[in-house]
Amino acid sequence: MAKLCIALDMASKNDNFSLCKELANNNLNNIYVKVGLRSFIRDGINFINELKNLGFKIFLDLKLYDIPNTMLDSINEISKLKIDIITIHSSAGRNALSVIGDYIKSRDDYPLVFAVSALTSFNNEDFHEVYNDSINNAVLKFAKIGYECGIDGMVCSALESRIIKDRYNLLTLTPGIRPISSDFDCNLDLYNNKDDQSRVTSIKMALNYDSDFIVIGRPIYNHSNPSLLVKKILEIL
Ligand code: C5P
Repeated sequence: MAKLCIALDMASKNDNFSLCKELANNNLNNIYVKVGLRSFIRDGINFINELKNLGFKIFLDLKLYDIPNTMLDSINEISKLKIDIITIHSSAGRNALSVIGDYIKSRDDYPLVFAVSALTSFNNEDFHEVYNDSINNAVLKFAKIGYECGIDGMVCSALESRIIKDRYNLLTLTPGIRPISSDFDCNLDLYNNKDDQSRVTSIKMALNYDSDFIVIGRPIYNHSNPSLLVKKILEIL
């Protein structure tokens, strides 16, 4: 069964918190909320604690990318926050991923660590310009390194989830999800915009590709009735 993460990317702490309060009031808090850089810089650790108090699980999406020692120090500090998921960049390379893999293996109480493969905003052409490789090749290369280093899973588009899981025992966490009407058995007046995402899938496609965690932001918080949409999404996960 896949798990839902809602990206809290709205313009203010108040907007994000109001959405979470509404979800919690409707008993829809047994899910992950994703706090990204914008919110973390602005709202800090207090906000994370407030979200925890509402009952949510916390995905802190900082996408760490630095030299191994600096990344390890950050991971160590983050683990004190008692959150559930954190992200790092695969491109930081084997040395960085392996010190982090060793660190998480040495503890029984650590967040799941997911390594970003190819950002879902990349199309093949843009990706090739930066990495001189195709997305599928590079994603498999990143997954191999992540697996060998003991990382828990990969952040990828749902389109790549299956090819990773066919080869490696890794979890997949997939942003770039755009719910479509055939995902549901009722009419939900869905948000219909890819925005800056390139490699998008519907919810059912992500489930068919065995995604473990689906990340959805704008289609939920821009919906006229986010609680109803979240309830309907949870019914099909
Ligand atoms: O609004 P939307 O559903 O497009 O939000 C997707 C979220 O997932 C954003 O917070 C974005 O930063 C994050 N993300 C992504 N692609 C990745 C990693 C994270 O879109 N590869």
